[in-house]
Amino acid sequence: MLYLSMGKIALFYGTRFGGTTRIAQKISEVLASKDHVVVLKNIEELEGFSETETKMFDGIILGSGIQIGQWTGKMKAFITKHKTLLSNGELKLGLFVSCGTAHSEEGKTKACQDYITNFSTEFGLSPDVTAAFGGIFDFSKKSSHGFLKKKVLRAITKKESPGKFDLNGINDFRNWEEISAFAEDFAELF
Ligand SMILES: Cc1cc2nc3c(=O)[nH]c(=O)nc-3n(C[C@H](O)[C@H](O)[C@H](O)COP(=O)(O)O)c2cc1C
Repeated sequence: MLYLSMGKIALFYGTRFGGTTRIAQKISEVLASKDHVVVLKNIEELEGFSETETKMFDGIILGSGIQIGQWTGKMKAFITKHKTLLSNGELKLGLFVSCGTAHSEEGKTKACQDYITNFSTEFGLSPDVTAAFGGIFDFSKKSSHGFLKKKVLRAITKKESPGKFDLNGINDFRNWEEISAFAEDFAELF
């Protein structure tokens, strides 16, 4: 007889400019394709998360875009509030970030160290699966980063990675294969 193992997974993400939304959707799609049940939510739209609700899940994935080295405030508040649940080993835990630093291979290592490993230590988490994905730098006229942030970012990227960015267009470093691989690794925990 064939037994299929299916997990119920909460997938919550924090985003400031929307770049992380599609990443979370992709992860959700891959998990669903492996027969897992996924509850996908922008953390801004999450209304409470009671003790009873947490018992319904087998795993939780938390992700965030990074701004000035930080996960979103709501995501940090969520983690602080549910620290016991997230660290008692009952739930499988996945963490990911989407950020500018991870636009290159060496950048990914640094982003994992700064925004996952150090962050996990700070919040007392021991994630089962982690990843740092590239993000989006939108220097186009329609950018939602806003004039000032765009100007500062442009200056930083110009200095740190000369010639690597289109300083008037959209720079999208999200790698969908890496994102799928992260989801597949998480799916295999069940
Ligand atoms: C104002 C601003 C500050 C940023 N600061 C950082 C940073 O400190 N480190 C980093 O790796 N990426 C940084 N980024 C890049 C973002 O992480 C990247 O744009 C990501 O895709 C944002 O995700 P979101 O759209 O889901 O918020 C910054 C972007 C902006 C607009």
